[in-house]
Amino acid sequence: MGRTDRLLAAMTLAEKIGQLNMAAGSGAVTGPGARRELEEGIRNGQIGNVLNVWGGAEVHALQRLAVEHSRLGIPLLVGLDVIHGHHTIFPVPLAEACLFDPHSWESTARTAAQEAAADGVSLTFAPMLDVARDPRWGRMVESPGEDPWVATEFAAAKTRGSQRTSLGAGSSVAAVAKHLCGYGAVTAGREYASVDVSERTLYEVHLPPFAAAVAAGAAAIMPAFIDIAGVPMTANVALLQGWLRGRCTFDGVVISDYNAIAELRNHGAAADIVAAAALALKAGIDIDMASEAYAQGLPEALRRGLVSSAQLDESVLRVLRLKERLGLLDDPYRHEVVGSAPTTARELAREVARKAIVLLTHRDRVLPLSAQVSHIALIGPLASASDAMLGPWAAAGRPEDAVSILAGLKGALPRCRIDSVAGVVASSQDLSGLPGAIERCRAAEVVILCLGEDASMSGEGGSRADLGLPGGQRALAEAALDIGKPVIVLLSSGRPLTVPWLFERAHAVLATWFLGGEAGNAIADVLTGKFNPSGKLPVTWPRHVGQVPIFYAQRPSGRPSKAGERLSSSYLDVPATPQFPFGHGLSYGTFTLHDLSCTPASIRAGEGFAVSVSVHNESAIAGEATVFLFVHDVVATISRPVMELKGVRRTALGPGERSRVTWQLPASALTFLDAHLNPVLEPGRFEIHVGQSADPGAFLSCSIEVLP
Ligand code: BGC
Repeated sequence: MGRTDRLLAAMTLAEKIGQLNMAAGSGAVTGPGARRELEEGIRNGQIGNVLNVWGGAEVHALQRLAVEHSRLGIPLLVGLDVIHGHHTIFPVPLAEACLFDPHSWESTARTAAQEAAADGVSLTFAPMLDVARDPRWGRMVESPGEDPWVATEFAAAKTRGSQRTSLGAGSSVAAVAKHLCGYGAVTAGREYASVDVSERTLYEVHLPPFAAAVAAGAAAIMPAFIDIAGVPMTANVALLQGWLRGRCTFDGVVISDYNAIAELRNHGAAADIVAAAALALKAGIDIDMASEAYAQGLPEALRRGLVSSAQLDESVLRVLRLKERLGLLDDPYRHEVVGSAPTTARELAREVARKAIVLLTHRDRVLPLSAQVSHIALIGPLASASDAMLGPWAAAGRPEDAVSILAGLKGALPRCRIDSVAGVVASSQDLSGLPGAIERCRAAEVVILCLGEDASMSGEGGSRADLGLPGGQRALAEAALDIGKPVIVLLSSGRPLTVPWLFERAHAVLATWFLGGEAGNAIADVLTGKFNPSGKLPVTWPRHVGQVPIFYAQRPSGRPSKAGERLSSSYLDVPATPQFPFGHGLSYGTFTLHDLSCTPASIRAGEGFAVSVSVHNESAIAGEATVFLFVHDVVATISRPVMELKGVRRTALGPGERSRVTWQLPASALTFLDAHLNPVLEPGRFEIHVGQSADPGAFLSCSIEVLP
């Protein structure tokens, strides 16, 4: 008998249920739900895990109660949403996705894990892997964007970063991949609304990132709050037992979302807490986060025979095994852990933040700012807001440690006069500050507008029906643009904002998302030309909210969109094309693609093919180009998206330099799911498109034949 089996054998029913109970500690409480006497519960073995606590002393005190004062001395799992950094805050995930760089994604997760582990955290509720194609949904900010291939790479990189080579390493934290699945497809982008997607879309789009997290060894999975076609994920036997535990052979821990088990009653899936607890346990949910449904409902569910004690024991064992793998059973305080050197972490934060900035539009060479610039008006609600730079889910990040845009620019341009004023509050219609702001714009040489959302406008509960600039910001921007000076716009947001008028009129617009603690320095690096922007959009940017959900991997229509043709797949009032395609992002230089080759011209199953292209830096400035490879299966038994991403390469090029990038792909990269959702490689022609974004007008294309 192993250690975990021995512990199980020694437990009372209440202690077993305690191991499945995760209670909210002090600090942020992210949802409604029951609170209980934390310390008493830990001491008597009825709370085996906590969330939302961190800090050596606080965690140590709670851990001591479990280890020294509970009957069996089993340590707690300590969970926290370490989404984009712990003390050192990195860009929000949507921004980090703009790097298209698994190495960076892994590095930030590693640093975050190290800092969180040093603060007593053993479990991070990350990575968030919801494919997001509807910017009305506020949680797009937490996601790696619209593409399943990107989300799959992100899943693996983040899991590796958090868990390192071993969970027991002391400086690793267990990854909880969330939210399985389809949460990004909530009806009309409205938070917590029902999801109704086809089984095909689930399997092609929403599940692959979770399969990748499991393959990378993710210790835990969190099901989403939502229901899919009437079956809440918290009780979804087909996906949690059938797909996750069956098909993916996942043997880790499944943790409910906050209060989600009790909410099965609101879904109309359970009549009472007993039924809710039974449904969740049968679906394979091991840990009840904060709803107390297991504590209140499982004893009665067992008595009524709704669940078996074997099912209960399986869940308890999975939790104990995770504690064992984390090393908690040997060293509950994970003594050896030390935080990363703060300077290294901040350097990484600055590096990633500047790479996450996307130059959306640029004309008249207003950027980089001239070294001689002597007077800037830095205007807008986000100009000196250091707290907003952190974005949602800032864990232990402190606003006072974040570098505002004003502070970053002042540091970079010590001899330049920078007049800064908000003009308007992010979401208020009060325009009384507008005249003063415009006065400052008139007096300056260059105007920099810091516009967008504040951090509370996206994230959980951050759905918006209007994707324009909130409050009086449009009035402020238009008044500033009317002056006729060069205007550069920094757009901070957790999603694309539909501001076509601004893209039309401003000299340059940069997507600056929520870049984290080093935001101001990173922005200054880009504005001054110290860093040549290289970020690329991980989501298609709509022109109008009426176009959403919008994404590049559309299926072909029988009547493809043709501008001006009524009976084609289009709108009467807005072009069908996006404002900016997936992958868009300008540089201060110019890169061009040449000499695409695809070899051999035909392949069979089991073989492979190579695609390569030359990338030229046509400019006198060094920079980094990003090249995307898409495929299109021209004729198939299930009609295939017009393009599907299969590879991304970044290449750094000096002035005038050229390089050749190559992908070696197996024939299996061309498979898709047949009518029974089994992978199939069908003979026929496949188009290969290579470009610097998903703009079909700029592709280099070739094709290969798959032979029977
Ligand atoms: C969110 C999760 C999060 C949990 C714990 C919930 O409201 O949906 O993503 O991990 O709270 O904070």
